[in-house]
Amino acid sequence: MKKKILGALLSVAMVATMLVGCGTNQASVPADDAAATEDTATDDAAPADDAAEEAPAAEANGKKVGVAMPTQSSERWINDGANMKEQLEKLGYEVDLQYAEDDVQMQVSQIENMIASGVNCLVIASIDSSALVNVEAQAKDAGIPIIAYDRLLMDTDAVSYYATFDNKGVGTAIGKYIEEKKDLANTSETYTIEFFMGSPDDNNAHMLYAGLMEVLQPYLDNGTLVCKSGRTSFDDTCILRWSQETAQQNCENYLTGFYADEDLDICATAFDGFAYGCKAALEGAGYTADNWPLITGQDAELMATKNIISGKQTMSIYKDTRLLAEKCVTMVQAVLEGKEPEINDTEQYDNGKIVVPSYLCTPVAVDQDNYKEIIVDGGYYTEEQLAE
Ligand code: BGC
Repeated sequence: MKKKILGALLSVAMVATMLVGCGTNQASVPADDAAATEDTATDDAAPADDAAEEAPAAEANGKKVGVAMPTQSSERWINDGANMKEQLEKLGYEVDLQYAEDDVQMQVSQIENMIASGVNCLVIASIDSSALVNVEAQAKDAGIPIIAYDRLLMDTDAVSYYATFDNKGVGTAIGKYIEEKKDLANTSETYTIEFFMGSPDDNNAHMLYAGLMEVLQPYLDNGTLVCKSGRTSFDDTCILRWSQETAQQNCENYLTGFYADEDLDICATAFDGFAYGCKAALEGAGYTADNWPLITGQDAELMATKNIISGKQTMSIYKDTRLLAEKCVTMVQAVLEGKEPEINDTEQYDNGKIVVPSYLCTPVAVDQDNYKEIIVDGGYYTEEQLAE
């Protein structure tokens, strides 16, 4: 941080050659203590059991649900899959849960196999939804309804419902957190910032960016925030398949190229995996508690929550995957048993073909001040897990 001065002109060309952009495809961090979530419900986060009470197992009547998840390389999807499986099985459904390890073709094959094996309903958290259009049409022809899970399925009319978190709200929450922590509206300081945004084939990444910039763009415009790499657009900051390694590499390149004489104050990242990558890059560059930047993330993974406690990550966005699974299960029941799922958005999620009726769960910003109340008291992680 330093007093407001006009920064030197940035060499965008230089950074363009040194940075790895959206074009790489590498795996993210191996899940640390994955599937650690306890299925204890909190009040707004809730009751996996409610759904079970509503529908006795008999109603499922041997029906099979195919659940296609993107990857096990990030903890949240392991939790999502485990919650979906558990909640559907409680209702008597048979569940075919598959992970595609961020391999687009593998996900296509998995869904084809699910259709061939006679599933009655598909739940899909896509890797690259544009690659799924044909297989979705196949499902529709076979009379198999599809529910989009967390990520919107684009360019298809084969999707019945969408269960997700308020994705623009995630970006706004990250932006507001930075705004408040740095008192951007009132400060006379300037802060350096770099951006690490999500995968361009994931609609959520675009929405997050829109929400984030709605809050931060005015501060970039008036010079309170200074992005020394000059990379502030979505196209310049997106990271294909949410790769932790690419985030680390980008951060290393930013630090070497632009922060030799001045500290980086804020890493605005869209994912806990990116926060881990930035942490590694900052440690490598010799940053310590004295000049450690504000680092944002998303998912409140177990490792991220531990990093928040130790001060190596500043905040994350808590998304209760138990609640998301519960909402999704009500949608499965709706399409298979003619029940009414709860919907709270019929406008925002236009996939290019139809506006998909959606339920948006509320994301919550967590940091050192509120993680106990939100995460521990909410039964998401125990103190013991966080202390390990
Ligand atoms: C999800 C995020 C997650 C990201 C990377 C997004 O689609 O909404 O919660 O952090 O994918 O896995």
